[in-house]
Amino acid sequence: MTPATITAPVKSVAALMDMPEEYQTAVRKIVRSHAVNELYGAQVYDEPAIALAPNPYLKWLACRIAMEEYGHHVRFRQLGEQIGIPAAEMTPQGKKPLSIFEFPLKSWEEFCVVKLTADLAEILQVEDLMQCTFLPLRNLAKMTMPEEIFHSQFGKDTCTELVKTEEGRKKVQAALDQYFPMMPAFFGKSNSANNELYRRCGIKRHTNEAMRADFMKRVREVVEGHLKLKLPEVAEAA
Ligand SMILES: [Fe+2]
Ligand SMILES: [Fe+2]
Repeated sequence: MTPATITAPVKSVAALMDMPEEYQTAVRKIVRSHAVNELYGAQVYDEPAIALAPNPYLKWLACRIAMEEYGHHVRFRQLGEQIGIPAAEMTPQGKKPLSIFEFPLKSWEEFCVVKLTADLAEILQVEDLMQCTFLPLRNLAKMTMPEEIFHSQFGKDTCTELVKTEEGRKKVQAALDQYFPMMPAFFGKSNSANNELYRRCGIKRHTNEAMRADFMKRVREVVEGHLKLKLPEVAEAA
């Protein structure tokens, strides 16, 4: 693993401006990526899920999740604006989406599976950011973490209910078969130059490969160990 060359905390936006160009670039890249992906996810999954939710209680929870995901975008975007990222770069327009964002949500079961898996992937990313050297980003990660945990737990709880019937079980498995193969790419390419930059700058601690392996282990525990469903075979190396 590349040793971090920057380990001392960078305490503020003003302090960031005195850091080497490479460090500033790394911070802008990661903030931009979170701002874009949080907005994409909210638009493609969380907001449409409100209409798909089968009863008022679940609509209420879906509203809460949509509110929180839009809120994550707003907070990352505010930090992005403070550190000089042009606003146009913090929306999905004109940016090639992760493949998981290309498929419109068709059912409530799909939403529950996306929350269970994609938000677990997000938890891993945010866990890394909670220890990053840029303190405003670390603080933002600490604020969003309890909400991401709630989203993934919501996915686990709703899937646990759904698999109690034969029909629900089939639908959850079908949603897993459709969405899960797109998940490993969420962690980025193996031997990624961006990831090396992030680690050098103390923005991330783990390689994309290590995070992907950790995710596969954690998601397998939930899907196979807890739900007793089958995790589709996927190529782990992107
Ligand atoms: Fe989020
Ligand atoms: Fe989330």
